[in-house]
Amino acid sequence: MTSKNASIVTLTPAPTLDRTYFVDHLEPGGVNRAERVGEELAGKGINVSRALRLADIEAAGIVPIGNADPGVLERTGSEFLTPLWVEGTLRVSTTVVEKNGPTTKINENPRPLKQADWDQVLALTEKTILENDGKWLVIAGAHPEIVETGKVIDLEPLFDITEKLGVRVVLDTSGPALRRWAKSGAATIMKPNAHELAECVDRELKTLGDVIDAARELNGWGVNCVIASLGVDGIIAVTKSHAIHAHTPPVKVINTVGAGDSTIAGFLSAVTNHPSDKDAFGVGFDVAEGIASAVQWGAAKVQQPTSGLQSIENLVEATVELIPNRDHLLGEDAKP
Ligand SMILES: Nc1ncnc2c1ncn2[C@@H]1O[C@H](COP(=O)(O)OP(=O)(O)OP(=O)(O)O)[C@@H](O)[C@H]1O
Ligand SMILES: [Mg+2]
Repeated sequence: MTSKNASIVTLTPAPTLDRTYFVDHLEPGGVNRAERVGEELAGKGINVSRALRLADIEAAGIVPIGNADPGVLERTGSEFLTPLWVEGTLRVSTTVVEKNGPTTKINENPRPLKQADWDQVLALTEKTILENDGKWLVIAGAHPEIVETGKVIDLEPLFDITEKLGVRVVLDTSGPALRRWAKSGAATIMKPNAHELAECVDRELKTLGDVIDAARELNGWGVNCVIASLGVDGIIAVTKSHAIHAHTPPVKVINTVGAGDSTIAGFLSAVTNHPSDKDAFGVGFDVAEGIASAVQWGAAKVQQPTSGLQSIENLVEATVELIPNRDHLLGEDAKP
């Protein structure tokens, strides 16, 4: 594959092996036999790197992975990743899909990382950014605990590295970690969905205006650009100077898992291909082009069955409103 651009690096601190059992009918408490078992190496940064490859963009993907299963990258078509092998096994997320019935999921919590392993992840990230002349670092997914302290990983050393190297950080996480790092204002971009944003500002969001006001709060904490993904309502991007709404026509939804990761890939594929002047949208990158592409990639993802985006052919049209309708009601109220 030819790579057009290698200035994007992703980091997935807590990857997972998605194992899907296809059964005719699940008998709880009984012995069940799977007709087929599928495996996918998943994790939000991995999904972003994988999706960018569809646009011939090689984005190195850093992942700490348990060394007990050394064949996992090859087996899951993930040789393009940059692993840091750590002692132990990879966590597993189990899905049971019944033929004409519901889907049952059992997710394992992120495996704690030893402090020495996290330090090595930091060093590998810095090395990879330098080797690839990285301009963007995507940190995505759950934040594991550190074995020795029981505290979640500290991103501060990573922000020191990116600041030193002039690299912009896109941070996508949820819950307490989202609020903690939003308050620190260290990331250039954060991509909460509506519920995550509501949780972050601790109030219900009912309209696009509510979303814009919540995002502006994060701008006030230092987050230059908030990309709020709103499911069927598309995306609102908010900087100190602009609020822009991008959306697509409704599409037939098959599986929404991973839609947010596809929007990040779509956003970066556009902004890294559209040079813009240093004051564009008050942040120095083309936010409007970025979210137009993001909603197209998001809409493509939800029409596909796997959590990783499989194709960016036949993208639907995106509409961009430079003056969003603040009174537009969200498809679903977002509660904290
Ligand atoms: N029903 C839908 N119709 C059209 N586009 C959709 C629909 N649902 C999601 N999308 C697209 O996907 C994008 C991301 O979806 P969403 O806001 O649900 O992300 P998310 O909750 O972060 O997903 P995840 O964390 O599972 O990757 C939306 O901004 C939109 O562009
Ligand atoms: Mg998400």
